Amino acid sequence: MNKTAIIYSFNTKKTGKVAERIRENFNDDQVEMVNAEEINEEVFMSFDQIIMGVATWFDGELPNFWDEFVPALEDLDLKGKKIALYGLGDQKGYPENFLDGMGVMAGILEEQGASLVGFTSIEGYEFESSKALRGEQFAGLAIDYENQGSMNKERIAVWVDQLKKEFS
Ligand SMILES: Cc1cc2nc3c(=O)[nH]c(=O)nc-3n(C[C@H](O)[C@H](O)[C@H](O)COP(=O)(O)O)c2cc1C
Repeated sequence: MNKTAIIYSFNTKKTGKVAERIRENFNDDQVEMVNAEEINEEVFMSFDQIIMGVATWFDGELPNFWDEFVPALEDLDLKGKKIALYGLGDQKGYPENFLDGMGVMAGILEEQGASLVGFTSIEGYEFESSKALRGEQFAGLAIDYENQGSMNKERIAVWVDQLKKEFS
């Protein structure tokens, strides 16, 4: 069976909660939880399928721990690697940079040849601009805990169903 990782910071509460819920929606033994704060190239490349949790911090930027891994990512050949992103952002607080972190990460992975999966509709969100846009879709699952937390459960369940198809 193909190995799947959910890579996220074990020190983040909201991103961590979403990771747990994603895992619940897969069969437990299919996915491994990996701490983004301790990630290295070897561990990253050992998975066939990767789900990455990427919140937006600092007005449109990546969290520090992801930023620190970017130089390593930029050296990797990710052709054929299936990667799905989930992003956390606040569309009311940061409407001009909504989910930019996920967009920045998507751009780096695309550049390295990864096959990004798990794109979702922008319907149901209100914002002004976002680097996470790819055409009329987000380059991953868009989670807004601050304003739409009650929708997380449903959004995650639908997304994992989509991933099960796109990962196979
Ligand atoms: C200082 C600060 C800056 C933020 N900047 C952005 C931003 O530019 N765009 C956005 O969509 N969300 C932004 N957010 C919202 C966070 O992405 C959101 O709260 C997310 O749930 C944080 O997840 P985490 O605590 O698991 O890292 C910001 C939050 C804080 C506290």
